Amino acid sequence: MTSERKSIHGQWSTRMMFILAATGSAVGLGNIWKFPYITGENGGGTFVLVYLLCIALIGVPIMMAEIMLGRRGRQSPINTMSTLAEDEKRNKRWVWLGWMGMVAGFLILSYYSVIAGWALSYIFRTASGVFIGATAEGVSSIFGDLVSDPERLLAWHTIFMVMTTVVVSRGVKNGLEVAIRFLMPSLLVLLLMVVAYAMTTGHFMEGVRFMFTPGEITQEGVLTAMGHAFFTLSLGMGAIMVYGSYLPRQTSIAKATAFIALADTAVALLAGLAIFPIVFANGLMPGEGPGLIFKTLPIAFGQMEAGTLVGTAFFILLTFAAWTSAISIIEPAVAWLVENKGVNRIYASAWVGLVTWVLGLGTVFSFNIWSDKTWSIPYLFDDYTFFDTLDKLTSNVLLPLGGLFIAIFAGWLMRESSSRGELDSVGWVFRIWQILLRFVAPIAVIIVFLKAVKII
Ligand code: TRP
Repeated sequence: MTSERKSIHGQWSTRMMFILAATGSAVGLGNIWKFPYITGENGGGTFVLVYLLCIALIGVPIMMAEIMLGRRGRQSPINTMSTLAEDEKRNKRWVWLGWMGMVAGFLILSYYSVIAGWALSYIFRTASGVFIGATAEGVSSIFGDLVSDPERLLAWHTIFMVMTTVVVSRGVKNGLEVAIRFLMPSLLVLLLMVVAYAMTTGHFMEGVRFMFTPGEITQEGVLTAMGHAFFTLSLGMGAIMVYGSYLPRQTSIAKATAFIALADTAVALLAGLAIFPIVFANGLMPGEGPGLIFKTLPIAFGQMEAGTLVGTAFFILLTFAAWTSAISIIEPAVAWLVENKGVNRIYASAWVGLVTWVLGLGTVFSFNIWSDKTWSIPYLFDDYTFFDTLDKLTSNVLLPLGGLFIAIFAGWLMRESSSRGELDSVGWVFRIWQILLRFVAPIAVIIVFLKAVKII
């Protein structure tokens, strides 16, 4: 049976609303900013292949599990886990899974907001026309000027955090519909325009080959690909779970998941196809790092017909995509505060926003005054800046770990009658889901972890 619980935070007004919101959460900087740069750093083809496999075999079943747990528990991930553990007569400590997710959310949003600030600032930079006819060096140096200035980064980070906090304080539903129904398809159209431009550079096939011809990959590359599958689908920390908790009972979880995963993957691949030809046409390196899109796309906007307009619109839409993702990252913490501390959403969002903003200062500084300061975590990584440390710790460790525990809980510890009733899929869909969730996903995550720390 599906559960009869109700969420105190309300429900999505329609089935479609959930799909839109979850797609808005999934499609964001992860697809357009992060996917191309980590693909570039990890050598292309094989990395993309591993990423696609991880989406299909690990991400999709875990997303279904997360939505299902959320809809059954109908509360913030922390309280959902404690309620469900009780329902299923399991150890109370499962609530820690909710806590880990909440911590991961703070860490992720703290840097996500800084990068979203870059996108925000590029709206104005592109609109000013500075990129018209600019060379690759010119564009790179404009990016360098931005990130080396802590004051400017701080200002944009602050603006973005305020934007996020305001929306979350009003409840994630208000405004989300417009944002996603109209802006997401527009983003897709603009992305296609840049891909069309990339086809004219004469290096399009080089980009395609880079992305799809298998080559070398390191163990760490495999871990990064897997971590990114979690990141890009917003999995492993409760964001999708909390969205699931507002889901009307009749919605098909399997169909919603299929749509979200396909849309998310399509956007990422298109972003790669837009960017790599520009990289090769301008003698840049695919492994440029986090600045990759900011050093390549403006070249295209500087050269194409009506590029200033297209470019400005592109960065506006990218900012919206980041915005709809950011609100899902703090929703678990805000929902928990409202449930447990009896405060209203405005107060809860303001606190969560403030804590995240302070944490974000570390990322702001890691691109300038702290650029030589590095951290190491034994077995995991050496000499990473604050930003890299946060990024790797969350994507490569916390999210897969969260996903692993979600798979174990939903696959093994929940009674089959509970999960079957909730998923309500045709028999073979349920069976495939169960095999992926019980065996394939957890074993794959464990093997990748063990290999990355060189235990096997
Ligand atoms: N998936 C989003 C992106 O690709 C980011 C995101 C939103 C996220 N919610 C999340 C990442 C929860 C990890 C966990 O940009």
